[in-house]
Amino acid sequence: MTARSVCFLLLAPLLATGCGSDEAAPPPGDPEKGRAIIRAYGCGSCHVIPGIPGADGRTGPSLERIAKRVYLAGVLPNTPDDMARWIREPETVDPRTAMPNMGVSESDARDITAYLYTRK
Ligand code: HEC
Repeated sequence: MTARSVCFLLLAPLLATGCGSDEAAPPPGDPEKGRAIIRAYGCGSCHVIPGIPGADGRTGPSLERIAKRVYLAGVLPNTPDDMARWIREPETVDPRTAMPNMGVSESDARDITAYLYTRK
């Protein structure tokens, strides 16, 4: 057997399963839209958010480098899906949280999440 065919045999199962997980894939939203949406919802009245003019609120934690946070609100693993869920319905994650449900739509939450994941 040639080295090349050994290599093919080793790689074939990986290729068949899509070559790894899609966990590293960027969140599906549009970060530029997200930036505008964050301003429209006024998230900056409670959060410091780098890149958003006037976002200097102190009620909630700073969202600086939020992409690197391991847990969101101390309880949710920091994945794009969980961040979007937190943004849409924080009270279902933690009924006592001070962050209000702001009626964010699913697509707005995806765009916001895409923007926040640019904060590394
Ligand atoms: C009335 C104040 C308030 C507003 C408005 C608000 N938040 Fe929050 N937010 C909070 C508080 C307080 C927490 C901390 C929650 C906790 O730890 O239980 C939080 C937590 C978060 C977290 C998790 C941060 C971390 O360090 O784990 C994210 C992400 C977040 N907010 C995004 C948003 C976005 C996006 C908006 C706008 C749609 C928004 N927030 C609007 C108060 C607010």
